[in-house]
Amino acid sequence: MLNMNFNPFPVLETERLLLRNVEHSDVQEVFEIRSNPDTMQYIPRPLAKTLDDAIGVINMMRGFTERNERINWAITEKGTDKLIGIIGYPNFKPEGHRGEIGYVMHHAYRRKGFLFEALLASLDYGFNVMNLHSIEAIIRPENTASIAVVEKAGFVREAYFKDYFFFNDEYLDQIIYSLIKPAI
Ligand SMILES: CC(C)(COP(=O)(O)OP(=O)(O)OC[C@H]1O[C@@H](n2cnc3c(N)ncnc32)[C@H](O)[C@@H]1OP(=O)(O)O)[C@@H](O)C(=O)NCCC(=O)NCCS
Repeated sequence: MLNMNFNPFPVLETERLLLRNVEHSDVQEVFEIRSNPDTMQYIPRPLAKTLDDAIGVINMMRGFTERNERINWAITEKGTDKLIGIIGYPNFKPEGHRGEIGYVMHHAYRRKGFLFEALLASLDYGFNVMNLHSIEAIIRPENTASIAVVEKAGFVREAYFKDYFFFNDEYLDQIIYSLIKPAI
């Protein structure tokens, strides 16, 4: 049975990280991530232009979580509480017990293995707490960093969809990677 209950919020702990809910006090860090054209180049969401835009993003994420529809974790280093990235499930396909995973790291905190550590914790939550059967990542073909991350986690390339997503006046190709729940 799929378990989609995110209240109380499930805080996750790894060796170096604490994954907690995204708070209004994270507005500056969320703004730095969502307003950075380089960070956002493969994520089909509008660029934040003001702190208000970032508050809107935080409100949206928190609302989805409160309604048990989606979940996002703020990635923080233990002992600092500063948001350095966001990971979560922006979409579920309950009929197939499938979730979509999405993530972004602040540009100053990349290539330290933090995202990978957070990914393993959220995959564990998806498979073993939510009872998902499979988890997918939808990635632009040009996004070599993201492709390397999911391949390192054991995801396999399932499909290449041409002109799958319309954003900023163009149709974008997307690759679907997936991981089926490992048999114990
Ligand atoms: C994709 C992204 C989240 C990776 O974050 P990160 O913190 O650098 O990832 P990690 O340090 O945990 O890297 C884990 C592994 O992924 C691979 N990897 C990550 N970035 C890579 C890069 N730029 N090139 C090649 N491999 C890369 C490596 O195998 C790495 O392990 P290693 O450092 O031991 O070699 C980050 O580049 C990012 O935020 N990009 C912009 C947002 C985005 O595109 N999100 C995904 C949308 S689908």
